[in-house]
Amino acid sequence: MSLSETTLGELREIAARYPEARSGLLPMLHLVQSSEGRVTPEGIEACADVLGISAAEVSGVATFYTMYKRRPVGDYHVGVCTNTLCAVMGGDQIFERLKDHLEVGNDETTTDGSITLEHVECNAACDYAPVMMVNWEFMDNMTPDSAVALVDDLRAGKEVTSTRGPRVCTWREAERVLAGFPDGRVDEGPGAGPASLVGLEIAQERGWAAPSSTRSGSAAQVHGDPAHHVEAAADSDASLQAESAAVEESSGSGESAAEKKEAQ
Ligand code: FES
Repeated sequence: MSLSETTLGELREIAARYPEARSGLLPMLHLVQSSEGRVTPEGIEACADVLGISAAEVSGVATFYTMYKRRPVGDYHVGVCTNTLCAVMGGDQIFERLKDHLEVGNDETTTDGSITLEHVECNAACDYAPVMMVNWEFMDNMTPDSAVALVDDLRAGKEVTSTRGPRVCTWREAERVLAGFPDGRVDEGPGAGPASLVGLEIAQERGWAAPSSTRSGSAAQVHGDPAHHVEAAADSDASLQAESAAVEESSGSGESAAEKKEAQ
C-alpha cells in the first residue's frame, strides 16, 4: 500500500532540512516506521524517489541498522540489554523470564500485537545495570519481577514513566520523534540519575577540574580557582613548547619536516 500524501509531504520536509538531501535518510526511515509500523518496500521506494537515489541504496541502509524493522513492531518495543555488564547483573535472567511470560522469542511480537521483545546491546547505561528500554527510553536497575510488572502495565494500558525520561508513548509515536517531529515531552523526567553524577560530585568536593585541552593524555589535578587554571594552562603550553624544542634538537638540525623534505 502506498504512503499517504501527508507522509510523502513530511518525507520531503525532512529531506529539505539538509544541505545534502540524502543526509535525511535516517530520519525519513523513522518516519516510514511511524507511519507504516515497519520499513515497507513502498516506504523504501518513496525515500528513494524523494532523495533521487536507488531503492537498493535505501535498502542497504535500512537493513544495516538494527533500529529499522522489516517486520511489524508491536505497540511497544521492549529491549533487554544482554551485553556483558547487564548480563552478569541479571539481564540474561530478565530476558529469559520475559520470553516465558510473553511466550515469544527474540525479535518476536506477542499475539495481541502489544509487545515486541528484543535483546539489545550496551546502551551506555551500565551504571544502572541491568537495563531495559521501552521504545528507547531507559528502565534502570531492573529485576525479572519488575520487568514482568512493566510489560503487564504496558499491555494493560497503564501510564508508564521512564526512570530517566518521559512518560512512555507507543513505538510509532516514538519513531515520529526520531524522525524529528517533537512530541513536547523532551524535558520530562530527570536528565541524569545519581549513579552517573557520582564522579562529578567527588570532583566538586575536591576542587578538581579537567586539565587544559592543550595537554593531551595526562590527568593533572588542578585547583578550582580560575587563577590556577590560567597558571596550569600556561605551564602546560610551556611544557609543550619545551617538548617540541627537544624533538627538533634530537632531529639534529632543528629543521622542520617540510624543510627537510624540500631540501631532499
Ligand atoms: S552492558 Fe547494559 S547498558 Fe552497558
